[in-house]
Amino acid sequence: MKIAFVGKGGSGKTTLSSLFIRHLAARRTPVIAVDADINQHLGAALGLDEAEAARMPSMGAQLPLIKDYLRGTNPRIASAETMIKTTPPGEGSRLLGVTGDNPVYRACARTLRPEGDVGGDVRLMVTGPFTEADLGVACYHSKTGAVELCLNHLADGRDEFVVVDMTAGSDSFASGMFTRFDMTFLVAEPTRKGVSVHRQYKEYARDFGVPLSVVGNKVQGPDDLEFLRDEVGDDLLTAFGQSDWVRAMEKGRPRTLAELEEPNRCALDVLRETADAAYERRDWQRYMEQMVHFHLRNAESWGNDKTGADLSEQVDPGFVLGERPAPQPQPA
Ligand SMILES: Nc1ncnc2c1ncn2[C@@H]1O[C@H](COP(=O)(O)OP(=O)(O)O)[C@@H](O)[C@H]1O
Ligand SMILES: [Mg+2]
Repeated sequence: MKIAFVGKGGSGKTTLSSLFIRHLAARRTPVIAVDADINQHLGAALGLDEAEAARMPSMGAQLPLIKDYLRGTNPRIASAETMIKTTPPGEGSRLLGVTGDNPVYRACARTLRPEGDVGGDVRLMVTGPFTEADLGVACYHSKTGAVELCLNHLADGRDEFVVVDMTAGSDSFASGMFTRFDMTFLVAEPTRKGVSVHRQYKEYARDFGVPLSVVGNKVQGPDDLEFLRDEVGDDLLTAFGQSDWVRAMEKGRPRTLAELEEPNRCALDVLRETADAAYERRDWQRYMEQMVHFHLRNAESWGNDKTGADLSEQVDPGFVLGERPAPQPQPA
């Protein structure tokens, strides 16, 4: 299952993604954590110290390797140079699983165990820090391109997760990355600024049938909750309160997930149940059609010019991405 956490900077995307990832790890559910946020803090939120976080390889720097591996023997993709971030898989392409080993994970992922020996492993991958140039609509150099390529080649099933901490921005709308998720959790504080992102995101989500739920954060009482409900209506799924547990983490005094406040643990259960329920609504055919739709759009607007090739020829009309056999839980 592919899950995104989006929202305004400071709303708590990284905090709630890391809590959700820990929650999955505590249950030994296979999970890949991807940091695609402008401020790269997911590693730290999952327990990496500064030096370890600094040593993380960036997906952006591994783009040539990623392209070469995923391209495989797909005859429609002549070279890694003509592979753009929206290039869809086809016959001959290599697919990624959530579990298992491959050159992409060897180059980009590091294994953490945020819940210690009581939990399972988490694979962490990071886009690398964003620069000014990444924040515009400069499609070719976008840092999230590597993430998008991996998502487009991911054959994931139930009870295995890829959780992406990402910025809600023009880049993910233009490339179509926002349509790649089974569930998008939009994190919102109970303030006008906090809910403003929802208005824009909801338009895009509706146009493409993207499942979207609002998760309140730093909610301090009934008044906050009522405000969120008034502003976002039925999209409000659940809410997290102001958390001493999160504060303690920030102070460098880590606690186990079992010590998280009860209402916040309940909210995590709601997120997982919602993510699980999204499985029934999966439609690989539609998923593939959207991938192709955005690829053709990007090819026409900049990709063909950039590569000097007709990138519409990369589309394999008979190919539909699908699931691999159900995963086994991690051994205790
Ligand atoms: N529920 C919460 N309780 C207490 N502090 C929180 C909570 N959620 C987020 N924070 C704090 O708010 C700040 C911003 O959160 P962060 O997750 O980094 O936001 P984002 O990733 O959206 O920019 C951090 O200092 C974080 O510790
Ligand atoms: Mg963040």
